[in-house]
Amino acid sequence: MQPSSEQDRAKWAAGVGAIETYVQDGMKLGLGSGTTSHWFVRALGKAVADGLDVVGVPTSTATRDLAIEGGVPLTTLAEAVRLDLTIDGADEIDHNGAMIKGGGACLLWERIVADASERMVAVVDDSKLVPTLGAFPLPIEVIPYEWESTKRSIARLLDKLGHPAADLMLRTRDGAPVVTDSGNYLIDAHLKSIADPLAIDAQLNWIPGVVENGLFTGIADEMVVGRADGTYDVR
Ligand code: 5RP
Repeated sequence: MQPSSEQDRAKWAAGVGAIETYVQDGMKLGLGSGTTSHWFVRALGKAVADGLDVVGVPTSTATRDLAIEGGVPLTTLAEAVRLDLTIDGADEIDHNGAMIKGGGACLLWERIVADASERMVAVVDDSKLVPTLGAFPLPIEVIPYEWESTKRSIARLLDKLGHPAADLMLRTRDGAPVVTDSGNYLIDAHLKSIADPLAIDAQLNWIPGVVENGLFTGIADEMVVGRADGTYDVR
């Protein structure tokens, strides 16, 4: 499968750039989720077919299925214990490497896999680079049990942290809640502009019922930015 749109070509360039720059024989890799990561996983499958010796831990059932289809050998964190590197996409990334993730509903497994990795590299097309996070709604994974109450607690915390008018929406598809790979729901918080991502990241997960939030601060070590002409930058 070849990228056809300009944005897909940029995503593909980021995925290929990450392999060329970082991936080496013998590595244990975290395999990200979302469309950019999927271009990376497809390119990794080709590299494996050409003799690259790596194993991967997928961050979603969709990535697991794609890796199996592409011939990328898989393992688990139970078996691998620590990974050398995770390569994963982002919905937004700022100049400090702080990200919003979870647009593809995989934030919980993504954070677990990144946390088990020595290094995390974000792969993005240049539309994901922002001066300030927050135009993209912040995904928050919550337990389905009494999620409306959890949503009210999130609103109270966001109010305290400078977002009194945050618009919180349960993510739905065809009128039903979107269910994550772990069986949870997602609340998307429309914050518009996040002045202090670290404060929100640090406090959201303390709310009972919140499982994980999509503000990934202090996680990305570097980023590969792809462009539609097939070139990429490492930053
Ligand atoms: C999924 C994610 C993705 O990495 C993020 O949504 C970016 O996706 P895409 O590469 O399709 O723009 O966090 O949970």
